[in-house]
Amino acid sequence: MDKSLVKAQDTSNPDTEKQSAISEQNSSLISAQGVTKVFKRKDQSVTAVEDVSIDISQGEFVSLLGPSGCGKSTMLRMIGGLEEPTDGLITVDGRTPGEARCNREFGIVFQKPVLFDWRTVRKNVELPLEIMGWNKNDRRTRAEELIELVGLKDFASKYPAELSGGMQQRVSIARALSFSPPIILMDEPFGALDMMTREQMQTELLHIWAKSASSTVIFITHSISEAVLLSDRVFVMSARPGRVMQTLDVGLARPRTEATREDSRFGQALATIRNSIFSQS
Ligand SMILES: Nc1ncnc2c1ncn2[C@@H]1O[C@H](COP(=O)(O)OP(=O)(O)OP(=O)(O)O)[C@@H](O)[C@H]1O
Ligand SMILES: [Mg+2]
Repeated sequence: MDKSLVKAQDTSNPDTEKQSAISEQNSSLISAQGVTKVFKRKDQSVTAVEDVSIDISQGEFVSLLGPSGCGKSTMLRMIGGLEEPTDGLITVDGRTPGEARCNREFGIVFQKPVLFDWRTVRKNVELPLEIMGWNKNDRRTRAEELIELVGLKDFASKYPAELSGGMQQRVSIARALSFSPPIILMDEPFGALDMMTREQMQTELLHIWAKSASSTVIFITHSISEAVLLSDRVFVMSARPGRVMQTLDVGLARPRTEATREDSRFGQALATIRNSIFSQS
């Protein structure tokens, strides 16, 4: 690719150069080209992500899969406009991630549910809508809709402390979806759940995603089977510094259900990713 695109951070007038680079980008909804992130602290530096290039289309469900510390969260934070790349360029629908974030294009679900203890489930889900200035009735209607969608209808008046971890995470998901963001960023949202709850949540997420027409999801996980079950494509990252070492088109029919786990192509996809990971180590 044209190196002028990846040097946007280093120039004396980065904004001008970034804007002209953005206008040259392709039609992907999310595009990362030659992205590197180096964290510098005193005399030490850590390269978290190195030369990552990925393109994600609107409506795709993609996963970033890789070992602990390989830069998955850093990559997601850069796409979400919460962190700046050291080098390279990320665009979101032709804008910078920061612009897209200000434009409320992202719903973000973090690994740990970040809920407000003093607000009920309903009030937690309503929070982004309150900030966006929705009126009380519309907020309430939308929150009830989402709470039902994530299966917590009977818990709308409860406080986070009265819920299990999995239920709290469903509240986080409902809140992230409340304002119908076109892009949903999920950083290991099921990482802390037991296997049974986790598998239930995976199929529930597929159900929710199927209903939220045309939204694009970037999902982080350590779990190969979770990535395969959920995704259209899986980006397999190497150990730190994280690079994309393989992109797998999953190619399993949708809708996917519990039965998909029994499909021979599901097993084949798992084997392909395992081989890729173990052939590198
Ligand atoms: N703010 C920061 N300052 C310094 N180093 C950081 C910072 N954030 C992340 N790192 C380093 O960057 C590397 C990648 O971290 P990151 O959190 O992106 O990994 P990850 O793939 O999400 O790991 P995990 O699966 O354990 O969540 C790690 O070595 C980490 O120590
Ligand atoms: Mg992480």
